[in-house]
Amino acid sequence: MPRTLLLLGTGLWCVTLTASMIAQSAPAPRASGAASAPGRNTSAPTSRPSSPATTAPARYGIGRPATAAEIGAWDDDVMPDGTGLPTGEGTPAAGATLFAARCAGCHGKTGKEGPNDVLVGAAPRQGFPFADDPNLPHTIGNYWPYATTVFDYIRRAMPPDAPGSLTDNDVYNVTAFLLHANELIPADFVVNAATLPTVKMPAREHFVPDTRRR
Ligand code: HEC
Repeated sequence: MPRTLLLLGTGLWCVTLTASMIAQSAPAPRASGAASAPGRNTSAPTSRPSSPATTAPARYGIGRPATAAEIGAWDDDVMPDGTGLPTGEGTPAAGATLFAARCAGCHGKTGKEGPNDVLVGAAPRQGFPFADDPNLPHTIGNYWPYATTVFDYIRRAMPPDAPGSLTDNDVYNVTAFLLHANELIPADFVVNAATLPTVKMPAREHFVPDTRRR
């Protein structure tokens, strides 16, 4: 899923940073012969302060606690069951206008043409042959297990050049448009916090909790 990929990307970046920081702070390799001279081995661990924790101040006097409003602006996850969905609503018709203006340039006029990810397509209507055919586009209609994730992902990530710029009603509208284009809701369906979790996704039963023992 895209969100997992984003998180994974961030994780790898952190690992890379940490690894390079460790490499920079590690003692330099000793030149052969010089290491045995007493008093010259300034990079040896014994010449460092005994413990950085005992010398660090309790506070550095920079920064401030984040306000509740600042935390709230980031704490906007929508759960699969719809927990966290805001007030507001949207329809496929209103979403079509927004999609044409803000999304079609990257995802195509009908959500199928690209150049970026294909969002629309119900086929294949049977089975789950993604492992057998890696070229099969993963769409909202054939792959996404939860309709609520469509709202959550678009609100936090799209459009990628201005994430967070859509109002909650914008996101409900464009979510309704995409669900209708994927043949998941009728044209007169009103998407809101109560109705979105009820939308049945064809791929839902293909995603199960991993109960294997580690
Ligand atoms: C500037 C180009 C661009 C625009 C504009 C854009 N997107 Fe995207 N979109 C992308 C790219 C690139 C990805 C893939 C991101 C990734 O995999 O991390 C993506 C991914 C998505 C996905 C997830 C696709 C999947 O199945 O993995 C959805 C849903 C989506 N966009 C919806 C929208 C909507 C709705 C809009 C308009 C509000 C929009 N996008 C505008 C480039 C764009």
